[in-house]
Amino acid sequence: MNKKTIRDVDLKGKRALVRVDFNVPMADGAVADDKRIRAALPTLQYILDQGASLILMSHLGRPKGGPDPAFSLKPAAEALNKLIDLPVQMAPDCVGPEVQALAKALKPGNVLMLENVRFHPEEEKNDEGFARRLAALGDVYVNDAFGSAHRAHASTEAVARFLPAVSGFLMEQELEYLGRATMNPERPYVAILGGAKVSDKIAVIENLLKQCDTLLIGGGMANTFFKAQGLETGDSLVEPGAADTAKALLAKAGGKLRLPVDAVVADKFEDGASRKTVPVNSVEPGWRIMDIGPQTVAAFGEVIKGAKLVRRGHVCGCESHRRQRRGQRDRRRRQRVGGQESRRRQADDSRLDRRRGEFGVSRRQSPPRRRRT
Ligand code: 3PG
Repeated sequence: MNKKTIRDVDLKGKRALVRVDFNVPMADGAVADDKRIRAALPTLQYILDQGASLILMSHLGRPKGGPDPAFSLKPAAEALNKLIDLPVQMAPDCVGPEVQALAKALKPGNVLMLENVRFHPEEEKNDEGFARRLAALGDVYVNDAFGSAHRAHASTEAVARFLPAVSGFLMEQELEYLGRATMNPERPYVAILGGAKVSDKIAVIENLLKQCDTLLIGGGMANTFFKAQGLETGDSLVEPGAADTAKALLAKAGGKLRLPVDAVVADKFEDGASRKTVPVNSVEPGWRIMDIGPQTVAAFGEVIKGAKLVRRGHVCGCESHRRQRRGQRDRRRRQRVGGQESRRRQADDSRLDRRRGEFGVSRRQSPPRRRRT
């Protein structure tokens, strides 16, 4: 990979400002799934082992209008604390004199978690002044938040202009996968894309159409394509301003772009709503598309089975879909019994061990994980 990584910089005695993706599901004020935090461990452990301190920054959810305790990263800091068995200090904000003082006081091996960067509207505006204030906290910037890298925000893009910037191990690995997928893809090459907005992903779709053999579209954005085809979409999530773009993309794609053929629809977005499965050309007014239907699952499944390379894109991050996924996860969690849970954890641990091996970070270098209470 021709991008600098944490292996290419001297981290000794430095304050590493690390953009992680701790946008984790929460339930009852605690982290409901710590997979993303665990995935960041090899990078964080490596940086600590080099004699640096860590200043972690992330977003969580999509808070609107300033600080909101429901979107605080404090539970993520607590979850990280259990995983690395080191105190993780929680900052009251991500910028400001108090945070600067905390960052300045860090000693090698210390960990400081900044509060949600999206509590400041400047974050999503990729504001240069805000990015400078973030950058002033550290000596080197590490981006390990691949899941957020498609957003040009102050903590992912602008900040990198003001500090030596390198990638972490997660970012490195994803870039390697992407490189393989774009330089010399094995065929048939199938891409799967979801998410709410077509307008966010026009360039991605155009690029994928040039490279892949089939592009499967799901999620909320499929509805905008249905709208572009003149179909009734009822109360479904649609991006009306992007219908012309969707039409142009359909024309450009020829047969490469595959849309769902049937859908699960509901009469409202609530538990206990009436639901049914219908062909996508039979959505009635007052109903909304919630998911792909069984015929689509089978058809897309056949395409995926025949593929040599499958590239999955964005999973819809909108609050309603996030809530829906969180509910599904919680239900699954409740159904799990102790033995299954411990098998999952063992599998996660061996995956992490494999990653530590790949990245030259041994388990011994990583402090033991505390037992969950
Ligand atoms: C995700 O969960 O998809 C990433 O953290 C990005 O979140 P966002 O869609 O709210 O920017």
